Amino acid sequence: MPTLQTIRDFNPEGKKILLRVDFNVPQDEQGNITDDNRIVKALPTIKYLLEKGARLIIMSHLGRPDGQVNEKMRLDPAAKRLGELLGKPVKKLNETIGENVQKETEALANGEMLMLENTRFYPGEEANDAEFIKQLAELGEVFVNDGFGVSHRAHATSTGLASVLPAYAGFLIEAEMNALQPLMGEPKQPFTIIFGGAKIKDKIGMIDQFISKAQNILIGGGLANTFIAALGHEVGQSLCEKDKLDLAKEILAKATSPSQIVLPADVIIAREISNTAATEVVAIDAVPADAKILDAGPQTVEAFNAIIAQSATILWNGPLGLTEFTPFQHGTRNVAQAVADAKKANNAFSVLGGGDTAEVLKTLGFHDEDFGHISTGGGASLEFLSGKKLPGIEVLYR
Ligand code: 3PG
Repeated sequence: MPTLQTIRDFNPEGKKILLRVDFNVPQDEQGNITDDNRIVKALPTIKYLLEKGARLIIMSHLGRPDGQVNEKMRLDPAAKRLGELLGKPVKKLNETIGENVQKETEALANGEMLMLENTRFYPGEEANDAEFIKQLAELGEVFVNDGFGVSHRAHATSTGLASVLPAYAGFLIEAEMNALQPLMGEPKQPFTIIFGGAKIKDKIGMIDQFISKAQNILIGGGLANTFIAALGHEVGQSLCEKDKLDLAKEILAKATSPSQIVLPADVIIAREISNTAATEVVAIDAVPADAKILDAGPQTVEAFNAIIAQSATILWNGPLGLTEFTPFQHGTRNVAQAVADAKKANNAFSVLGGGDTAEVLKTLGFHDEDFGHISTGGGASLEFLSGKKLPGIEVLYR
C-alpha cells in the first residue's frame, strides 16, 4: 500500500530543497501578523532540514493577488516573523523565479535558507503552468511540501513541483494526516461533532460524511438558525439560509437516532451587534421577530457539555456565536472549556478543524495543549473531512 513519503525518507544534507509552506497568515492594516500559528507549525520541518544541512528555499503564497504583484501581499512580514521564531534573520527575495533568484539560491551553503516572494504574484502558480514549474524546479533538487493549508489546490508549488522533482511531506502534513485520517476510518466512540459557523453550504460535505459515523452531532452558530427555521420556528432578523430549509430538513431526516442531532434549546438574542449590546436568553420557540440570534443559550451549552464530557472523540468546526463581540462569546467559550476538560479528564481526542475555529479559541484564551490537534487548514481540512482527496498530498504517497 502506498505510504506518505516524508522528510525522514531521504538525506537532506547538501541538497537544495524547495520547501512549500502555507504562510497565508492574517495581518492587520499595518501588515502586523495577528496569528502566526501557521509559521510556528512549520518550524519543526524547517529546523530539522537546516540541522541536517539542507540548503533551504522556502516558498509560500499570501492572499489572492491574482497573478500580479501586490505590495500589500509581499512575504516580508512572514519572513521577519520566521526569523524572530528561529532566532536568526531570514533573507527574503523580491522575486520567486529569475536570474537573481537563481544566483541567490546557488550561493546558499549547507544549513542556510532564504525565502522567495509570494508565489501567487505569478499567474503560473495557480494555473499549474509547465514553464513556471520548470523555472522553479531549476532552483532545487528536492521538493518538500509542508503547506497543509493549501494542499487542496493543484497549483505549481503543490502538485506541479511534485511531478518533476522527488517529493516528500514535511512534519506538519504528516501530523495533520495522523490526526485527521483516523476520523475518516473508525474513530473511537462516542464520537461527537460540533458544528458552528455561518453556513450549511460550507458544512454539508462534512455532515454527509459523518452522519452515519458520529454518535452525536451538536449544531450551533448561524448554521443552527437554518435548522431552527426549518422546524418552523421564528428566527427574527438572524442569519438564516432561507434557500436551504429543505436541505436542513433532509439532514434532520437522515439522523440515525432521534437524539443524534442536537439543536439549541435556548439562545442569546440581541437587537444590535456591539460590545455593549443588551442581551436576553430566550427559548428556541420564543425568538421575537425584531431580534437576532447571536449565541447559544445556557441550557444549550449545558446539554452540549454533558455530551462532550462523555465523548471519546470530538471534532469541532465553527464558533457557536458571533465571538467578535464580547456579549456573544459565552457559548463558544464554555463549550471550548468542556472540550479541554474532556481531554484532561478522559483523554478524549479532540480535533479543531477549519481556520476560524482555532483562531477564535486562541483569542478566547485557549491554548494548543487544550486540544488533541488544531488543524492549520481551513478549506483543506473541510475538503479532507468531506471525503475529498487533497491533490497536494496524494502526490506524496508512493
Ligand atoms: C487558506 O488560508 O485556507 C489557504 O492558505 C488557502 O488559501 P486559498 O483559499 O486562497 O487557496
